[in-house]
Amino acid sequence: MTGKPPKHVLVTGGAGYIGSVLTELLLERGYEVTILDRFFFGDTIADLRRSPRLHVLRDDIRWCGDGVMRGIDAVCDLAASRMTQPESWTPPRRWKSTTRGEPASAG
Ligand SMILES: NC(=O)c1ccc[n+]([C@@H]2O[C@H](COP(=O)([O-])OP(=O)(O)OC[C@H]3O[C@@H](n4cnc5c(N)ncnc54)[C@H](O)[C@@H]3O)[C@@H](O)[C@H]2O)c1
Repeated sequence: MTGKPPKHVLVTGGAGYIGSVLTELLLERGYEVTILDRFFFGDTIADLRRSPRLHVLRDDIRWCGDGVMRGIDAVCDLAASRMTQPESWTPPRRWKSTTRGEPASAG
């Protein structure tokens, strides 16, 4: 880091419990923010959409492609599946839902 604060932050899971609060704080502090989220829990960021510095990508971190990183200075990686989501009930399934690969123990 050069000491200059990052200007454009990518928040994966930005529509989630923590991500939406973080996004609001970043916007308040003058950052440009891109949210990358599947929106499993609906449009939880309706209030934030008024900001011209907010960009929203409704996509999956597993197959969104490297293009999402274009122009990004920093990443806050908060996309995750909750234990209350059926796909998260076993560790291998939880792993698969938020990574591109699979754990060695997944059978
Ligand atoms: N909430 C807490 O108290 C807490 C405490 C400690 C750590 N954490 C960690 O912080 C992170 C975020 O937690 P949270 O409570 O905000 O979770 P959350 O479930 O509220 O939000 C996660 C978001 O990620 C999105 N998502 C899930 N899988 C995705 C995928 N494959 N591609 C794109 N988007 C996807 C969901 O749509 C959701 O909006 C998690 O890693 C969690 O373990 C949370």
